Formats: sequence, C-alpha cells, structure tokens
Amino acid sequence: MTSSERAGTGFRFADPVLAEVVQAGLTEVEELLHKVVQSEFHPVMETSLHLVDAGGKRIRPLFTILSAQFGSTWDREAVIKAAAVVELTHLATLYHDDVMDEATMRRGAASANAKWDNSIAILTGDYLFAHASALVADLGTRAARIIAETFSELVTGQMRETMGPRDGEDPIAHYLTTIAEKTGSLIATAARFGAMFSDTTPAQVEALRQYGEIIGAAFQISDDVIDIASPSSESGKTPGTDLREGVKTLPMLYALADEPESRLAALLAEPLSDDAEVEEALELLRSSSGLARARATLDDYAARARATLKDLPSGVARDALESVSEYVVTRTH
Ligand code: IPE
Ligand code: IPE
Ligand code: MG
Ligand code: MG
Repeated sequence: MTSSERAGTGFRFADPVLAEVVQAGLTEVEELLHKVVQSEFHPVMETSLHLVDAGGKRIRPLFTILSAQFGSTWDREAVIKAAAVVELTHLATLYHDDVMDEATMRRGAASANAKWDNSIAILTGDYLFAHASALVADLGTRAARIIAETFSELVTGQMRETMGPRDGEDPIAHYLTTIAEKTGSLIATAARFGAMFSDTTPAQVEALRQYGEIIGAAFQISDDVIDIASPSSESGKTPGTDLREGVKTLPMLYALADEPESRLAALLAEPLSDDAEVEEALELLRSSSGLARARATLDDYAARARATLKDLPSGVARDALESVSEYVVTRTH
C-alpha cells in the first residue's frame, strides 16, 4: 500500500499530506472501536470484535474525517469519536441485516448469525449500538439527536424494503426512497458530523450532508450491482443474496419493466432457494438491460453528488471527495 492508497477500498488520494491525515485518523478510529467494546464478559467482546477485525472499507469514518478538512481547524478528538460512532452504528446494522437476510458471509468471514446464531447476532448488534449511543453522548445532545434520527430513518428504510411497495406504488420510486433511508441517511450523517466538528459554515455542513446522502444512495445501488456482478472474493459476501431474500433491487426492477414476460421475470417472481435457479437468474441479470440501466442510474447519482460539491471550497479535500464518488461508480466494474 502506498501512502496515498486506502487499504480495502482501492481508491487513491492525489495529495500525500491529506492521505497521511486520513490514515492517521482512521488508525485512531480503529483504536477507539477496540476500546469501546471492551467488557469483563469476554463472549460479547469476541462476537463484537469478530466483524470489527474482519475488515470492512471504513467508508463512513472516511467521510467524517474528509468532511472535517474543509474548515481552517478541526476538533480532532470529536471528529474521531464521531467517526467511530458512525462505524459502530453501521456495524450494528450489519449484524442485524445478516439475520434478516439469512446471510452466511460478511467481510470475507462467516457472518455472526452463521458462526453463532441469530440471537447472538441480534444481541451483538444491540451491544454495538449501545456503545455508539454512549460514545455520541460525549459529543452533546445535538449529535445524539442526529444519530437517533438517523437510526430511525435507517430502520424505516429497512422496514420499507421488507414490506415492499404498496398496491399501485411505483416500485422504482419505492426502491429509491428505501435506499436513501437505509444507506443514504447514515453516510449523510457521517459527512455532516465531520463538518459539524470543524470550522465550517452552516452552508458547508449542509452541502456535505447532501453529498453524503446522494453518494450514500449511489453506494447502495453499486452494492446491489455487486450482489449480481461480483464474486465473493471481491465483495466478501455471497452473490445472489438479494435474489434469495426476494429483495427486488434496481437492476431487477429495470429488467422486469423491460422484459415482463421473460424467463428472468418468472425467476424474479418469488424468493429463490434453489442454487441452480439463483445461478441462472444471476447469469440472465448480468447480460440484462436492467443491469446496464442500473449502472446508468448510478452514474447519474454520482454526477448529482459531485454537483453538490461545487458550493464547497476547492482544494485537496474536495478533490478527495470527488475521487470517492468515482470509486463508488468504478468499484462495480
Ligand atoms: C454494506 O456496507 C451495507 C450497505 C449499506 C451497502 P459497506 O459496503 O460499507 O460494508 P463494509 O463496512 O465495507 O463491510
Ligand atoms: C443493507 O443492505 C443496508 C443496511 C442498512 C445494513 P444490503 O442487505 O444490500 O447490505 P449487504 O449487501 O447485506 O451488505
Ligand atoms: Mg444484506
Ligand atoms: Mg447488498
């Protein structure tokens, strides 16, 4: 790894000084993550550290640290804490999400529900969220309220996804609302926190929050493309999990609209449990117009996100955020 390359993500920062600042910040975040899950009861530490140590891209802490670089000064201690809060919140949702999705693999390791069981995975998620709450208390009532509102939005998105569109509701509009809530909300807060705990103007805080919200939705579209198009050696997860769960992601929705009478549409009608059918649906999706259209929507989101950056001062931090938006698009190729 060179000084300007981030482990696990593959994107580079053009500016070596900024790369060092980010890397040093992320190292402190790691230390804090390990510190806050300490317990005299060793099993809960073991189950918590399982996914902390399995890796993960740390994209949310990265947003927090980068957003803190727009002012003339930043409150380093608060920014590191805020970055750890968003990663802990994210991690808690991953433990719970894998139970709901019956996933067996996460971050290239066994998911907690597979390694232990559903109860242990749910309790570990709760434990991590409790520690995120304790840590955010140090940052004041405003930050605590923002995390509570963010978590509410995220849960609403997960529930909206589980329930599916109402009769007569446009499934694509339903999908776009769902991803803004379940993924955009926390990445928006990650970016907002960095700006809040540095010397930025309210307009800049809002621009960074908006950037996070849009790029967060783009990030979920790319995750949904990856579930179809990338092997587990790259994603660290099992491809086709969305098909098995019966979650209709954007490539599937576009494919259904384009070819409603096809074999693919028949396969997408119900959650799939048969391995051969999952493989068949993945093959058909990979060459479908639906996947191509989802990639085009991803490009649109990335362009919209970049447009929100124009209100921010130019410089190495803005360049880095731009490069993150490129990464979100190119990671699906
Ligand atoms: C996975 O998030 C869940 C989504 C919201 C798409 P990440 O892709 O950021 O997962 P890690 O943290 O790198 O494992
Ligand atoms: C879940 O979306 C996003 C969360 C808010 C946890 P996914 O179900 O697509 O996430 P992965 O693919 O399991 O990481
Ligand atoms: Mg999942
Ligand atoms: Mg996914």
